[in-house]
Amino acid sequence: MSKGVILSGMRPTGALHLGNYFGALENWVKLQDEYDCYFFIADWHALTTGYEDTSKIKEYTHDLVLDYLSAGLDPEKCSIFIQSQIMEHAELFLLFSMNTPLSWLERCPTYKDQLTQLSEKNITTYGFLGYPCLQAADILMYKADFVPVGEDQLPHLELTREIARRFNFLYETVFPEPKPLLTKAKNVVGLDGRKMSKSYNNTIMLSASPEEILEGVKQMTTDPARIKKDDPGHPDVCSVFATHKLFDEDGIQEIRAVCEGGLIGCVQCKKNLAAKMAEKLSPIYERRQKLLENPSIVEEVLAAGKAKATRVATQTMKEVRAAMKIDF
Ligand code: TRP
Ligand code: SF4
Repeated sequence: MSKGVILSGMRPTGALHLGNYFGALENWVKLQDEYDCYFFIADWHALTTGYEDTSKIKEYTHDLVLDYLSAGLDPEKCSIFIQSQIMEHAELFLLFSMNTPLSWLERCPTYKDQLTQLSEKNITTYGFLGYPCLQAADILMYKADFVPVGEDQLPHLELTREIARRFNFLYETVFPEPKPLLTKAKNVVGLDGRKMSKSYNNTIMLSASPEEILEGVKQMTTDPARIKKDDPGHPDVCSVFATHKLFDEDGIQEIRAVCEGGLIGCVQCKKNLAAKMAEKLSPIYERRQKLLENPSIVEEVLAAGKAKATRVATQTMKEVRAAMKIDF
């Protein structure tokens, strides 16, 4: 029985933090054992909002591949490649852009949100409007059955399904309709108590050493009502406690009890958390140190991923051109 196909990608906009890891990558690592997986770097998608300054794309792409590998993606089990190295994505994007009604793109909630949120950038471009067509090309090229994404990406998945349906209806059935694979979103709280996010500048990086983890944890906001260390604490307003939940599910009731009972100081509580985090993240940290000893590893992984992706993309585009009767 053939395994299902899974595809997902991230834009290269900087090294990943723990929010990104628990939001997506942790789940990808589990999926690679059960499915035929493609995990790529969406560098063309990064251009949709970042076309003016392209100076960091290469560096960020390299960092992202290192993050993928450190997190445990295994190039023996999944294909890791760069979007812009597979020209077929551009061709399929072009073909989809011919038969995707403008209104589908204009009513996409992510499009409308971003236009207002990123009002300081000029993203009233053709490429930005067409973002979902490019994403549909990424997904359908590999005939993905499932796409692990966060909730924010659901509108793009829905559009992908509509684009597939329309293509199959207009020409011939070439594409399956991929389903989203929603990850049970783990709530990763940033150092300031808000959601961990690059734009809030409240992150701990996935690459953090045990020392950097401790530095981060020290900055975390705690219960502001706690002055002395035997004051009873309110763990539910504390970022340290929220993070304990993520790293020490079994011990969490005990941590709550000692906090509420005023039996532990916040300094000690933070030390305990940092130690727990460093322990749980140590396989990732150690893998990264090994990877860094081998400077050509990223290129090798990407070359193998490109070869595999090219084989599939070449075949899909043959079918697409034939279905559209433009197979000269
Ligand atoms: N839009 C996705 C994001 O911003 C990135 C992406 C591009 C993607 N192509 C994809 C994700 C295909 C899943 C499948 O996170
Ligand atoms: Fe937060 Fe721990 Fe202090 Fe309680 S003891 S307020 S959980 S840091």
